[in-house]
Amino acid sequence: MRAVSKITLGLALLLGPALYGQDEGRIMRPTDFSAHVAGEIDIVAKAPAGKLELDGKAIEAEEPFPNVYHATVAPSAGEHTLAIVWESGRKEVRFFVGENAPEHYKPFQQHPPVPGVQCTQCHGISSRGRFRFKGGCFDCHQKEQETFVQIHTHPEHTFVECGTCHNAHGSTAAKHLIYPKEIMCKLCHN
Ligand code: HEC
Ligand code: HEC
Ligand code: HEC
Ligand code: HEC
Repeated sequence: MRAVSKITLGLALLLGPALYGQDEGRIMRPTDFSAHVAGEIDIVAKAPAGKLELDGKAIEAEEPFPNVYHATVAPSAGEHTLAIVWESGRKEVRFFVGENAPEHYKPFQQHPPVPGVQCTQCHGISSRGRFRFKGGCFDCHQKEQETFVQIHTHPEHTFVECGTCHNAHGSTAAKHLIYPKEIMCKLCHN
């Protein structure tokens, strides 16, 4: 476990750009192949001058930070495709609304699971004008908690980037991990 091979790290960079936040367009929420109960679906995405499309139709979004989009939709039951489109690219996620989701859709758990949490709880604009994650997790979670300490043994620089392993907007994996734990660890460790 201790040794992190350069090759594995390289592979992780190639296969999991979402892990490192380096791609231009991203949909943070909902996640690909997530299943949702009927009602409102909250969308979080980014792209340079991006446009959101639900099932091919443009949807209105607010832009709380430059090139960062937030929208709420209430689509009918069934399968849907959400896309973020920008000049040189496009990203899509598929999601399902309602009961009896096909097996490849997994229940989505939104995070934080409490209403009214603002984006600014965790985000701000850096002195160079870039949208960034600024922390804020420990307003609600306890760093000192025993299980927390046991799980989070990583060096400080890996550890502080909570978004390397967790999708703080919600996930279909346990503990809001981006991928299930078995896959997650192997992205950097043999
Ligand atoms: C509980 C904390 C938390 C809240 C609340 C939150 N985010 Fe995030 N967000 C994160 C973390 C952690 C990341 C991962 C950082 C990264 O990958 O660069 C992230 C990443 C993002 C990204 C991708 C950034 C990038 O450079 O690729 C976008 C876009 C985003 N958040 C938008 C939002 C919006 C819009 C809201 C409000 C609707 C919001 N977030 C609320 C924690 C949060
Ligand atoms: C506004 C409060 C709030 C903030 C801020 C917040 N969380 Fe949470 N989080 C919760 C609540 C409430 C739960 C569900 C109860 C629990 O398990 O602690 C939860 C659950 C979780 C879980 C799953 C815990 C479990 O046992 O299943 C993870 C992982 C998590 N949060 C990570 C984060 C990360 C990473 C951040 C910062 C990017 C963050 N949280 C910020 C309130 C918050
Ligand atoms: C290297 C990957 C990684 C990073 C980085 C990471 N976590 Fe985690 N975290 C995990 C894993 C894996 C689990 C769940 C372990 C399990 O299910 O056994 C977890 C569990 C949690 C839980 C639930 C704790 C519990 O008692 O069950 C919380 C809350 C949490 N993380 C918050 C955070 C916060 C906040 C950050 C950033 C300051 C962070 N994590 C950074 C991998 C990571
Ligand atoms: C983003 C890449 C990344 C991910 C994902 C990741 N790790 Fe690590 N891990 C590291 C780095 C970097 C080190 C430090 C390597 C070193 O010191 O040689 C490390 C070190 C460790 C160590 C040794 C810690 C110590 O005290 O020296 C353990 C154990 C570990 N990781 C477990 C895990 C587990 C379990 C997971 C899955 C939840 C995981 N890692 C996911 C990058 C990662």
